Amino acid sequence: GWTMAAYRAQSVEKIRAQVGTGKVICGLSGGVDSSVAAVLIHEAVGEQLTCIFVDTGLMRAGEAQEVVTLFRDHYNIPLVHVDAADLFLGELEGVSDPEVKRKTIGRLFIEVFDREAAKIGGAEFLAQGTLYPDVIESVSFTGGPSVTIKSHHNVGGLPERMKLKLVEPLRELFKDEVRALGRELGLPHSFVGRHPFPGPGLAIRVPGEITREKLEILRKADQIYLEEIRNAGLYDAIWQAFAVLLPVRTVGVMGDGRTYDYACALRAVTSVDGMTADYYPFDHGFLGRVATRIINEVRGINRVTYDITSKPPGTIEWE
Ligand code: XMP
Repeated sequence: GWTMAAYRAQSVEKIRAQVGTGKVICGLSGGVDSSVAAVLIHEAVGEQLTCIFVDTGLMRAGEAQEVVTLFRDHYNIPLVHVDAADLFLGELEGVSDPEVKRKTIGRLFIEVFDREAAKIGGAEFLAQGTLYPDVIESVSFTGGPSVTIKSHHNVGGLPERMKLKLVEPLRELFKDEVRALGRELGLPHSFVGRHPFPGPGLAIRVPGEITREKLEILRKADQIYLEEIRNAGLYDAIWQAFAVLLPVRTVGVMGDGRTYDYACALRAVTSVDGMTADYYPFDHGFLGRVATRIINEVRGINRVTYDITSKPPGTIEWE
């Protein structure tokens, strides 16, 4: 029979056989996939692994610190934490096209990662938390002509440039299997159960031009939304939930004043693997509560909408 304990033991053996006494570097994104890959590889080859966490300035509230705490302090895995927010946000200034955003972030990520890897020196292997759906979806849109829907910045590119051999222990797994493996490896439940978060981060949840101010507004709205989802006991029933800050201001009224602020959209979907998705049918009481809190507590937002598009024809992210 198939068990995660067996998969774990088998993967550890495979990683040891592949890596030998070589050095491995692994990019952590803060997500479940790269984290599970890192912990598994650490179990297999210990100190031969060094993790690099590139902080793009596009993470959610408190997220960068959580990654550092978990890996460096809890697991004792050697971790390089690079604060590259100024670089990323600087280069993204004036960029509003989704593909240009994605490519800019991908390119910068590689540059920063490359530089840090060179500082560590002597690495022969690059670890990635690539899953089975990543392998398929980044290639083409299944069933149609060969069209790239979105350039995923975390798949490909890096290894050829760096002349590193890939270690991809999750390549055959779907998301729910990665979560099971993470639990098997003792990762905290709250961490393993986290919703997926895209490599380009909040950049693709601010359609149009990104500014620090917009990112701050979005972080606050997103935090309130997720807090309400957790309080309602709905977090684990949802594949992904997040707020999107729309590039449009609308007129509102607050007290006896006129407001002219951003609108935000809330998104929540159920899915098995991210390839298709249905919007989550929240009850109206819940949505009303979240909207009221966001409008009252977040300066800069005066209107909240709920996205009822499924995938297809929509994608989960807005860009
Ligand atoms: P879409 O928006 O294409 O997203 O329906 C499907 C799933 O992929 C995530 N996503 C990404 N993940 N790098 C990632 O690691 C990316 O560039 C990227 N773009 C989208 C998205 O959050 C959803 O889970």
